[in-house]
Amino acid sequence: MATETHKGTVWITGASSGIGRALALRLARDGWKVAASARSAGELDALAAEAPGHVIAFPLDVTDMKRTREVHADIEERLGPLDMAVLAAGTYTRDGAFDFSATNAQKMISVNLQGACNTLEPVLETMMRRRRGKIAITASVAGYNGLPGGATYGATKAALNNLCEAMKPEAERHNVSLSIINPGFVETPLTAKNDFPMPFIISSNEAADHIARGLEADRYEIIFPWKMKLAIKFLHALPATIRFAITRRLVRE
Ligand SMILES: NC(=O)c1ccc[n+]([C@@H]2O[C@H](COP(=O)([O-])OP(=O)(O)OC[C@H]3O[C@@H](n4cnc5c(N)ncnc54)[C@H](OP(=O)(O)O)[C@@H]3O)[C@@H](O)[C@H]2O)c1
Repeated sequence: MATETHKGTVWITGASSGIGRALALRLARDGWKVAASARSAGELDALAAEAPGHVIAFPLDVTDMKRTREVHADIEERLGPLDMAVLAAGTYTRDGAFDFSATNAQKMISVNLQGACNTLEPVLETMMRRRRGKIAITASVAGYNGLPGGATYGATKAALNNLCEAMKPEAERHNVSLSIINPGFVETPLTAKNDFPMPFIISSNEAADHIARGLEADRYEIIFPWKMKLAIKFLHALPATIRFAITRRLVRE
């Protein structure tokens, strides 16, 4: 693989498929050494084989707090101090008033929100101590508005936006930069099961390009594509009565 000069070391969670996988390959090409994590060890090995020496597999279930700390320590021991971390592990199953289940909600919360917290703690702690580093958390435009069918998913992504915004000013004092990534629809295994129209959908490689450029520019909110950004921010700015008039049309029996 032809790469540019060494940019640093990055840890990507959720790297076995979709956006995380595409980003791992993109950053490896750009000159990053990539520590790639997800649960599927076989998929990570296949990814590492596409960029030998540039992507290294570190299998991990981010819902396991203790193991996440251990893997973080292992990465730093083997590859040196992390310069950047991109938290992209996530999961989605439809839920709403018709089919709400606390068990299903717990699964999404444990991966999307608690999993991000489990990863964030050791990364933030070490970067703040060293006074150097960058962390990007993958949320979603679904965090902007409560949308039928995405009740718990949207709630976890709204929580990540709030968490990241809350921590940014303090982290900056220690020279650690935080970014939030809010993608619109991206073609990945996560969206492949959707049977509804997904406006402005883009490929995972296009998503990786948007993210890589946003990280390079050290932008706080990396939100794309622009048509979805406009649509979701417009919806968010509307009075609740008008917003509900629109979201009622999204209800599927
Ligand atoms: N696709 C979209 O339209 C879209 C839009 C907005 C935001 N996002 C967000 O973007 C991120 C990536 O999603 P994607 O669309 O690329 O979906 P994806 O292809 O399903 O990828 C999800 C990744 O998360 C990993 N993962 C899931 N549970 C995990 C766990 N417990 N521990 C460690 N890794 C875990 C999966 O690997 P294993 O199964 O091997 O663990 C996989 O690598 C997610 O946070 C998602 O919410 C996606």
